[in-house]
Amino acid sequence: MAGRLAVIGSGLMGSGIAQVAAQAGWQVTMRDLDESSLQRGVSAIRDSLGRFAAKGKITQEDADATVARITTTTELEAAADADVVVEAIFERIEVKHEVFRALDKICKPGVVLGTNTSAIPITQIAAVTERPEAVVGIHFFSPVPMMKLVELVRGYQTSDETLAAARNFAEEVGKTCVEVKRDVAGFVSNRLFSALLVEAIKLVESGVVSAADLDTVMKLGFGHTMGPLATLDMTGLDVMLNAAGNIYRDTADEKFFPPELLQRMVTAGDLGRKTGRGFYTYEAQK
Ligand code: NAI
Repeated sequence: MAGRLAVIGSGLMGSGIAQVAAQAGWQVTMRDLDESSLQRGVSAIRDSLGRFAAKGKITQEDADATVARITTTTELEAAADADVVVEAIFERIEVKHEVFRALDKICKPGVVLGTNTSAIPITQIAAVTERPEAVVGIHFFSPVPMMKLVELVRGYQTSDETLAAARNFAEEVGKTCVEVKRDVAGFVSNRLFSALLVEAIKLVESGVVSAADLDTVMKLGFGHTMGPLATLDMTGLDVMLNAAGNIYRDTADEKFFPPELLQRMVTAGDLGRKTGRGFYTYEAQK
């Protein structure tokens, strides 16, 4: 049954999470640091709903009702009446710690304290609260309104009740959940994808295959909708370098060691779509 959601952070992921929850009938409060970030978040939601309406997937009334269920605020205290909280702020442990310390004081007992972190161990975030059993990874994928998957990630002390409540929430907003039983670096999704990408880059680096042909192998040979290197250009090579580097540090497993070509491309500023060049070249970004 739809309840009250507080989303902390109204960027790419936070606005998407707010949107899918509001579409499912949840009352959503979206918090960011300033009005301009909040307005960008609301515009992104309106644009996305507009695209669904233009395709006839929802009516304009649905879109308007969805937006009407979202309120914005710069006050973290607005999370006081939430049943579920999902944090989607910058991927930096010190800012996440600050927010979770505050949420621990503000939120009602029994609330799910979710984090959308891509790579920070849930246990490390939970450790600054007095209720580590209530903290859980609720890892959505981008773009949130389109991607069906949520990884539910257990920290060392996450309780079964918290995991079940997080699952109910994610399923209510239309997602399919997988459970990651331990918060290992990269969880499951980024572990798998990093291993694939490191090998893909090595094959291109050593001249075995071109980037375009490697992507064709994965598309036509394995049914991927998008090739791994095109996906990497979309995510950002810097993000990948950071992710693979973290997994390598955590596991000491050579297969995650970032290839030299990736390091050189990042140093040169070829970060993918956002800079106009990565494994492919793109029209100048507006
Ligand atoms: P983003 O940079 O688009 O948005 C972050 C937002 O958080 C900004 O609007 C910023 O002003 C706000 N913020 C920072 N500190 C805050 C605070 N104390 N209180 C409230 N708002 C605050 O970042 P994005 O891409 O949405 O990522 C958010 C989280 O989701 C990160 O932990 C990231 O690792 C994770 N993630 C990102 C994915 C992606 O494809 N971008 C995919 C899955 C997870």
